[in-house]
Amino acid sequence: PGSRPCRLVVFGAGGDLTRRLLMPSLYDLATVDALPDGFAIIAVDRAPRSAEAWADGLFTLMQADGKDPSAEFSCDRIDEEAWRRLTHEASYIEGDLTKPDVYTTLRDALAGKDAIFYCAVAARFFGTIADSLGEAGLLDAQDGFRRIVIEKPFGHDLASAQALNARILSHADESQIYRIDHFMGKEANQGILVARFANVLFEPIWRREYIDHVQITAAETIGVEKRGSFYEPTGALRDMVPNHLFVLLSLIAMEPPSSLASEAVRAEKTRLLQAIRPVSPDDTVRGQYAQGRINGRDVPGYREEEGVAPDSRTETFVAMKLMIDNWRWGGVPFYLRTGKRMNGRRTEINVVFRKPPYALFDQNLEDPRIGNVIRFLLDPVRGVTMNFDVKQPGLEEVVAPAASRFLYDDVFPKAPNVGYEALLHDCMKGNQMLFQSAATIEAAWSAVDPIVNSKDMPHVYAAGTEGPDAAHALLARDGRNWLPVT
Ligand code: BG6
Repeated sequence: PGSRPCRLVVFGAGGDLTRRLLMPSLYDLATVDALPDGFAIIAVDRAPRSAEAWADGLFTLMQADGKDPSAEFSCDRIDEEAWRRLTHEASYIEGDLTKPDVYTTLRDALAGKDAIFYCAVAARFFGTIADSLGEAGLLDAQDGFRRIVIEKPFGHDLASAQALNARILSHADESQIYRIDHFMGKEANQGILVARFANVLFEPIWRREYIDHVQITAAETIGVEKRGSFYEPTGALRDMVPNHLFVLLSLIAMEPPSSLASEAVRAEKTRLLQAIRPVSPDDTVRGQYAQGRINGRDVPGYREEEGVAPDSRTETFVAMKLMIDNWRWGGVPFYLRTGKRMNGRRTEINVVFRKPPYALFDQNLEDPRIGNVIRFLLDPVRGVTMNFDVKQPGLEEVVAPAASRFLYDDVFPKAPNVGYEALLHDCMKGNQMLFQSAATIEAAWSAVDPIVNSKDMPHVYAAGTEGPDAAHALLARDGRNWLPVT
């Protein structure tokens, strides 16, 4: 951060994202003294209230969230000193972000200051905010910086993402635009590149000659919650695949960047996504949850949820097979799946290796329990496990499966991590490495463009299961199966 005061302007300061992710992450940064000198928040929202009332309201909500095991933010007691450092200089602008007044007020408030404009609002406002900031001259940095943070979903298909990129780029340079995806900020996800490129152990075998296939799973137990009106036109594919799952895909499959400069890393991620063969509808399974049981509790089906049409065709689960047409991955399928109301909460990547070329020992090479798998456990358990076969002690040559396991929590002290801390910190420092470039976003949408508008009836699955049977058939067709949860 420069020596000038820095303002974080939060559009949507009264919203859910601000409460659940943004403020908790800023608070975590405040507790470790990682906010720049002269930092202050300018909260923008429609509701009339004072800055104190806004901050006090959040304090109360975050205290409750901190103790709620299902919330991202965990904290027994909010440190009042850190909270004060974060909010004592906060100001509040009441206004409608589609009207010019807000921006006029901001222009005065920001004169001579650096600013980050954070769009914690519904996606339909991203373009409006960028236009208004641009027209008010608020994106012209004199001496310091002016940056804009755009949340997901960035567009709803390739054409709309291209249009949104063009619109924002007509007011700001790429270097000012921070397209955020919280999967880039999560500790264990960032750890994938370190595992791959800080060691020599993995990289030589990280290729088609040794790897049979890769499975990426992001399973959730929660349903659509109160977000029916957002989720209905969105669905699991748009909500999770070209953003979150492709972040994981690019980390696990990209080529080594020549440095950690953001251009170098972002270019490799983009190259990887550009090599995805556009996904065929035949390689895609969409599902929708029906009522069922989760953790001993009956839960309603998707069509019974608030804000959801009784005949909705929106998918709450999607599985797909995709192929990457490059020299490293040619012929290696990547199977991705994500869904709500599944039987467990877990995000993980399984890298499944080929079998030995012949069975020297009394080994059934067809047995799916036998073989080498490297698993990246990403959420909520975080670590890396490795499966390999060992000799079972005894007089006979009997081969038995074994595993070694590294868990972050066994080795490192637990650090608070909502997922946005590193991202916000980097944005304040001007490091775009963890943010999506225009090209990355467009490459991702291109890959799913053939399947994104499917109106087919999704397969039904009961809440609390692994998803529809058709998702198993997708792998069974290739003689493979989804690996059971660790
Ligand atoms: C969000 C999606 O981007 O990511 C949600 O909109 C989803 O539907 C969430 O639940 C998953 O993130 P996490 O960090 O809870 O795995």
